[in-house]
Amino acid sequence: MEQVLFRHNRPGRCVTFGEYRDEGGFEALRKALAGMSPVDVQQTVIDSGLRGRGGAGFPTGKKWSFVPRDLAGRYLICNCDEMEPGTYKDRLLLEANPYSLVEGMALAAYSLGVNHAFVFIRRGYEQGAGNLRRAIAEAAAAGLLGENILGSGFSLHLDVHQSAGRYICGEETALMNALEGKRANPRSKPPFPAVKGLWGRPTVVNNVETLANIPYIVANGAAWFKGLAKIPEASGTKLFCVSGHVRNPACLELPLGTTLGEVIDNHCGGMRAESSFKACLPGGASTPYLTRDHWNLALDFDTVARAGSRLGTGGIVVFDQTTCMVAATLNLGRFYSRESCGWCTPCREGLPYVVHLLESIENGEGLDEHIEILAEHLNYLNYAFCPLAPGAMGPVEGLLKHFKEELQEHIIKKQCPFRPNRPGGVHGN
Ligand SMILES: Cc1cc2nc3c(=O)[nH]c(=O)nc-3n(C[C@H](O)[C@H](O)[C@H](O)COP(=O)(O)O)c2cc1C
Repeated sequence: MEQVLFRHNRPGRCVTFGEYRDEGGFEALRKALAGMSPVDVQQTVIDSGLRGRGGAGFPTGKKWSFVPRDLAGRYLICNCDEMEPGTYKDRLLLEANPYSLVEGMALAAYSLGVNHAFVFIRRGYEQGAGNLRRAIAEAAAAGLLGENILGSGFSLHLDVHQSAGRYICGEETALMNALEGKRANPRSKPPFPAVKGLWGRPTVVNNVETLANIPYIVANGAAWFKGLAKIPEASGTKLFCVSGHVRNPACLELPLGTTLGEVIDNHCGGMRAESSFKACLPGGASTPYLTRDHWNLALDFDTVARAGSRLGTGGIVVFDQTTCMVAATLNLGRFYSRESCGWCTPCREGLPYVVHLLESIENGEGLDEHIEILAEHLNYLNYAFCPLAPGAMGPVEGLLKHFKEELQEHIIKKQCPFRPNRPGGVHGN
């Protein structure tokens, strides 16, 4: 199975600059600066079918094409906030190899006509940030960053900014406010960042994994990248970070289109002893649950969307038969409620109310009408200012769709059927 993003990985340590370079690192940047125009690079990325790995799966080359070429002073931001529960791929990427990101950002910046780029990195990712700062210094010393890179006339300055920390800082417009030193609330869209972003200038925000793919696409071509996926409608590999009740939780690089069952059985050693698969979050905590019916579902953006969920970040959290899905959803709801930035009323008031409803049901104090009110909130929270609240409702949507009987059982029995001896005590899983 071809490893792309993990191909330079060394057991237990970060690859060095010399090792990366000796294995073909920075050749894509040399190739682009010597013989490709910025539009050629963009077209290659468009043709590759690369879709954003930060959660929404938006086509990367298309996003780049929205940046007006006649407006100077553009910015590129790499989003390494990674606070989505169940997601830890960007951290592992930077801990193993920061150079693909640096090279990918240089290529993206060249294509976009950007001379100043930022990596916005989660506080607590000290090792990743340290690796990145070292990689930037090494690349600059080798003439691969800074003024007049490789004599091409193209210059790029790359800065690392550590977030003060909040989940909302990962939302691209809140991120830009945070980077500008303002309160990290989301901005209205339109105008979209591609036109009016950081300090009012055209800005592209891309995820770490997205940008780290660019050198390999430029080096090997769009057709090669498309061919990495297991199904024709997808492109490339994906980092899946699997956690929960599997035997060997791991972050795996697998072709897009690998089925859920293959991920668990072939790459995670199956379920734990005496565990059977009940459900999973397929792409981080803001995606609706998949169930046993989805065992043979190909994991790619469109297929998972057709099944009523989202591939999201590829953070797969697996639950076995012992999991109370009400308690699991409550646990996630508490996270989102706490992380609401409070900017808009639906999110600020709605998420705590959803938590209150789930808590009542879990504690054996639920009423039939609570299920209806939860369903109404799926609609209400779509009126929030940014996607945090609709995302927070992803697991609630999955709960109502796939586990309604479990909800009803809590209400009828006036207790959690998974913890019958602990009425009133809300537990984690
Ligand atoms: C509340 C919230 C948190 C987010 N957190 C992240 C994050 O940590 N990392 C990330 O890449 N994208 C995150 N996103 C998505 C970004 O807004 C943006 O779509 C993404 O960085 C674009 O990169 P991509 O096109 O390469 O996927 C978040 C979105 C929302 C609504």
